[in-house]
Amino acid sequence: MSILLEPTVDAIVCHCLQISGSEIRTAAGALEAPTVRCIMKCTGAGTGCTACHRRIRRLIEDQCPSESSPTCVIR
Ligand code: FES
Repeated sequence: MSILLEPTVDAIVCHCLQISGSEIRTAAGALEAPTVRCIMKCTGAGTGCTACHRRIRRLIEDQCPSESSPTCVIR
């Protein structure tokens, strides 16, 4: 049943802030080196209970497999 655990683009990923996967992907696409912290700053996602950080990280890795830099650079 892993399909239920995978974040989808249109599903709400951060339930505290009601941020969808597509919003996170859009923000990640606008960043040169997206990190969970960058996504938090840009969208507000993950700034509540933090339970969504793993889902956010997975979305970033799906979109930008080379996410390794701790630098947050906005294009
Ligand atoms: S679910 Fe994202 S901060 Fe709580």
